[in-house]
Amino acid sequence: MSDINPILSGSAESIAAYQDAIEQSTKAVVQWLQQPEMYQGKTVEQLRERINLDFTSQGLGNQVAIERAVEYFLKDSLSVHHPQCVAHLHCPSLVISQAAEVLINATNQSMDSWDQSPSATIIEVKLIEWLREQVGYTAGDSGVFTSGGTQSNLMGLMLARDAFFARQGHSVQQNGLTGNLSKIKVFCSENAHFSVQKNMALMGLGYQSVTLVKTDEFSRMDVSDLADKLAQAKANGEQVLAIVATAGTTDAGAIDPLTEIVALAEKEQIWVHVDAAWGGALLLSEKYRHYLDGLELADSVTLDFHKQYFQTISCGAFLLKDARHYQLMRYQAAYLNSDFDEEQGVPNLVSKSLQTTRRFDALKLWMGLEALGKKQYAEIIDNGVTLAQQVAEFVSAQPELELVMQPQLASVLFRFRPGQGDTAFVALLNQRIGDALLASGAANVGVTEADGVTCLKLTLLNPVVNLADVKVLLASVTACGQQLLNA
Ligand SMILES: Cc1ncc(COP(=O)(O)O)c(C=O)c1O
Repeated sequence: MSDINPILSGSAESIAAYQDAIEQSTKAVVQWLQQPEMYQGKTVEQLRERINLDFTSQGLGNQVAIERAVEYFLKDSLSVHHPQCVAHLHCPSLVISQAAEVLINATNQSMDSWDQSPSATIIEVKLIEWLREQVGYTAGDSGVFTSGGTQSNLMGLMLARDAFFARQGHSVQQNGLTGNLSKIKVFCSENAHFSVQKNMALMGLGYQSVTLVKTDEFSRMDVSDLADKLAQAKANGEQVLAIVATAGTTDAGAIDPLTEIVALAEKEQIWVHVDAAWGGALLLSEKYRHYLDGLELADSVTLDFHKQYFQTISCGAFLLKDARHYQLMRYQAAYLNSDFDEEQGVPNLVSKSLQTTRRFDALKLWMGLEALGKKQYAEIIDNGVTLAQQVAEFVSAQPELELVMQPQLASVLFRFRPGQGDTAFVALLNQRIGDALLASGAANVGVTEADGVTCLKLTLLNPVVNLADVKVLLASVTACGQQLLNA
């Protein structure tokens, strides 16, 4: 074994090695941040060819390992902060979030039990209390930080399922699923996130359990179709364990009519989970908070901070309106969250989470809120929503471009629309525009479908991007479209 101790600790050698490694890494990041290109434009094959793993028995040492990471990872990374990087709900990060990561990583607290993360546990609990207040829930600490929207949606669906069976006197936790499972349904809109399907499959109920409700011209759940389908389900002897409403669909940013959905659900005692992974950013908004009216009525809520809260990946939360439902996932492990601890009121957060070992991601949100203050945070969130409206107006005025849907949050759906070609031709052309821009390294524009129409998507999260930047991008889209047509 090498005589150099590789572990981070308080020894003088370890501290020196830590400082060297961090300094070398941050210097590389600073250089990378100044690269003008959004991406170096390498293909899948080129990267497979270029990247090789070099695991020698002697080890390369920290310095060389970092140099190799810079060469093979950093240089060919996508610049998510670049103004032309607008394909996904993938945000540039706050500087303070980076500082928080240094603290999170160096301390390596684990959120499963209080004795592994004393101050961190209390900070997370206080943030959950604060988030509940923002949503409009009663005071309490029912909720937990998660790895993101997919996991938060899983928690909502799982607790909805188990509450549904519990009402019939059956414990899924103890005895597993029972009865005619093909009759058990979850409702969500056609534009809900695919994690609903994946989670239902994971929960043993399959994709077949998901009934899709039609959407209106703005991709929002059509409440009259929901009412019809609920009535139909009843007539078919089906049982609906949850309705998943979305506050901010992934492409259109559509917010389902929350209050009306809850009103329908209440009549039938159906759990409503709101996936506010994206739209939850409006909790901080000064201009658009009212878009979320009705969120406080939901039984559970998904929030994601690695979207329009500008936190590094990962950082999400799950909120549960009625704390009693946490009993449905109660499990006491003697070494982590014993009854003895519970009686003493020790907050071992493993009791509220699907994860055991868990990062202290809550610190990023805490530091973000403290550093920016609510006003600046609101401004950077509102910026994207307002910019999308301006971009939509500009797109509508361009003869070669067509606005596919009026923006609702910070995304713009549009397509290059030449005067020639049928639907399939235009769809392929737009797909090729997206691919060509990424291959050139110039821009990352989303390619998606809205109501069966293949279109391009700009997700305008980045608060330092302005209309002039987007005009540059739209000019590239048009030029690329013309080139492809001429080729
Ligand atoms: C509406 C919505 N819900 C859930 C998710 C999944 O979130 P995550 O990627 O954090 O798991 C996404 C991801 O984009 C989303 O847009």
